[in-house]
Amino acid sequence: MSRRRRVVLVPAPFQGHITPMLQLGSILESSGFSIVVAHSEYNAPDPLNHSGFMFLPLPDNVADCDKTFMNMMNVLDTININCKLPFQDYLAQLMENVEVDGEVVCIVFDTIMTFVNDVANSLQLPTIVMRPFSSAYSRAHEYLMDLRSENCLPLPECQMGETVPNFHPFKFKDMPLLLTNEIPDRLFEFLKKSHDIGSSCAIIWNTMDEIEHHHLSLVQKDFQVPIFSIGPFHKMAPTSKTSLIEEDNNCIEWLDKQAPNSVLYVSLGSITSMDEKELMETAWGLIGSEQPFLWVIRDKSVNGAKFNSQLPDGFDEIIGNRGCIVKWAPQKKVLQHSAVGGFWSHCGWNSTLESISEGVPMICRPDFSDQRINTRYVTDVWNVGWEMEGPVDRESVEKIVTKLMVDVEGKDMRKKAVDMKHKFQDSMKEGGSSFLCLNELTEFISTLSG
Ligand code: UDX
Repeated sequence: MSRRRRVVLVPAPFQGHITPMLQLGSILESSGFSIVVAHSEYNAPDPLNHSGFMFLPLPDNVADCDKTFMNMMNVLDTININCKLPFQDYLAQLMENVEVDGEVVCIVFDTIMTFVNDVANSLQLPTIVMRPFSSAYSRAHEYLMDLRSENCLPLPECQMGETVPNFHPFKFKDMPLLLTNEIPDRLFEFLKKSHDIGSSCAIIWNTMDEIEHHHLSLVQKDFQVPIFSIGPFHKMAPTSKTSLIEEDNNCIEWLDKQAPNSVLYVSLGSITSMDEKELMETAWGLIGSEQPFLWVIRDKSVNGAKFNSQLPDGFDEIIGNRGCIVKWAPQKKVLQHSAVGGFWSHCGWNSTLESISEGVPMICRPDFSDQRINTRYVTDVWNVGWEMEGPVDRESVEKIVTKLMVDVEGKDMRKKAVDMKHKFQDSMKEGGSSFLCLNELTEFISTLSG
């Protein structure tokens, strides 16, 4: 009987990172590998959702840390320091009992879990980096580093609308950091460290050649190791349950009662927040558009307040049955639902892939990190959405929602989104790029076993 071949996964403790890593675990599990998930205690995944996986919680000592957005960098640094030794101990134990536990073939880690390579090197285990972003975002890092080493930063405001040389159609204002500001060295050091693959022998990317051919060919030159783009993970592993927050499934019953393509789904992912004014203007704009909407308002996502407590007085009575508001939705099911005709999104990479793979056009309201790069893809490359630019006011909200949900232009946009959906499907079919890459990845990991 052949021995079990274990792959150890190390996700980063944020929803947008844990989700693709667990999905990758399900993909590798169905390719015959045993999966071990070594995770921080903070934002720990639920083992009950993955009965076949083994979970190793790593003490991180961040329980009492400030977890607001502004302090996330410190939290991440602390996790990277504190998880290192427990991870090393766990791995050493796991490797001792090969006959019973099976062989640890390699470690796959999220690109921001920077402690992993040191541990792996000391135990002589191969590592593979998992990138939960687009390959264009990785290219943006390269340009950022160039700008910094050429002493061009900060840039003047008037340059923000220009296209970055050799990085068409991305503009300076799309870059991951605000280039008109002084950028702390510490932030650059972090970006550099998480971009560098160190001693890793390959990269797995949640993207595919059909949608990112150009930038994938460039990153292949940047990193001289095999690159396996096997996305979209959520379609390659459709059954994987990954939510850290309880999903409110009542909204599906509400969607069942709505007409096809009539509902705008509004959600800004797991981190992005809005201030009270933006919430008010969005609310009045949605009312003014007269279109049905399903809106996710997470606890504390508006000025730290509870759920929907900041909505205009009498909002529920005004919208009646035309709107549904939840704290957290089963997003993939929502986007698959025939009633959903548009997605107002912050354009996190997971949300972007989930929307386009269902042929749902987008209204983009990016905030930070890769979200502006993803937005430019949506608006200027794939042509499946519009950006909501500038301050949010009720008139602009009403106008853009009506354009997407009612106007002829919106119907055209939906057709283009459906064409993109077919490209996603092609990538996963036998002979498609993700299908082939997954076979190559499985073979590659098998060659790593001793
Ligand atoms: C973070 C970054 O902000 C994002 O820019 C980066 O691309 C990934 O990491 P996040 O902001 O949470 O992620 O956004 P996103 O990548 O879209 O991931 C959110 C996930 O939460 C999606 O898989 C989505 O399906 C899920 N979700 C969101 C729900 O299941 N229910 C919800 O109500 C909202």
